[in-house]
Amino acid sequence: MTIENIMNRKSIRNYTGEPVHGAALEKLTAFINELNESAGIFGNKIRLQYIESNSDTGKLGTYGVIKGARSFFAAACKKNAYYYMEDVGYQFEKLVLFATGLGLATVILGGTFSRGSFSRAIGLKEDEILPLVSPVGYAGGKKSLLGRMIKSKSGDRKPWSELFFDGDLHTPLSESDEFAAVLEAVRRAPSAINAQPWRIVRDGGAGYHFYSAGKIEMNRADMGIALCHFEIAAAEKGFTGQFQVLEQNNVENAKYLISFVRG
Ligand SMILES: Cc1cc2nc3c(=O)[nH]c(=O)nc-3n(C[C@H](O)[C@H](O)[C@H](O)COP(=O)(O)O)c2cc1C
Repeated sequence: MTIENIMNRKSIRNYTGEPVHGAALEKLTAFINELNESAGIFGNKIRLQYIESNSDTGKLGTYGVIKGARSFFAAACKKNAYYYMEDVGYQFEKLVLFATGLGLATVILGGTFSRGSFSRAIGLKEDEILPLVSPVGYAGGKKSLLGRMIKSKSGDRKPWSELFFDGDLHTPLSESDEFAAVLEAVRRAPSAINAQPWRIVRDGGAGYHFYSAGKIEMNRADMGIALCHFEIAAAEKGFTGQFQVLEQNNVENAKYLISFVRG
């Protein structure tokens, strides 16, 4: 996955109705197998699965928001695991970006899908939950009215001054910061109802602290997505370091999550 994939990805809610096929399907399923062997930043394994609607699954419901989708991927994880939603976001976004690199369209759905039909299709187990799914396929066909309404604001992002800070959560970070390209990759991340809960504070040359201003559970997936973008962009720009949970205090309206410690 690359910064180019991050910049090219956008949510698509209208599909041609063709399932993913050929070399793209082979690469996608191989990558899903690889991801299923690995764990997220907080150590959780997420079960990712590719599914196509057929006579066994019936129609996989998306409440009319998505048009024409036949293939999907879904993420299941153990109930009540420590920081599981962050890891779901982190692992799922890798898959979304990989699909983008194959020229496939996606949109992460945390709310507007029928949990019943998807749970049956992936054989959800008693101790699992199903937080996210995404259609995956070829953009085309007609947009739904709801899709058009949601889409109209989707390119918008908060300005730098509301997301990235220097030393504390009140001082905006210079846009010529050495990590500017990495932070811009975070700014482009998708988030539930485009809430963009990520707040990142530069700690001199030592690293960057991640806080969440999110109010709902789904914002924890947004934080995992931000970590995914940060990691991909930092590696591509040649910055080394690792994610570590440090002793950081929560501040007003923002909850500390983790830090990228350079080294
Ligand atoms: C965790 C998460 C949950 C989302 N849930 C939904 C959803 O239920 N329905 C929907 O139409 N879009 C959903 N989205 C897509 C966002 O609305 C979209 O990413 C955001 O508006 C930014 O637009 P963009 O993806 O085109 O950049 C979700 C995105 C994320 C990251």
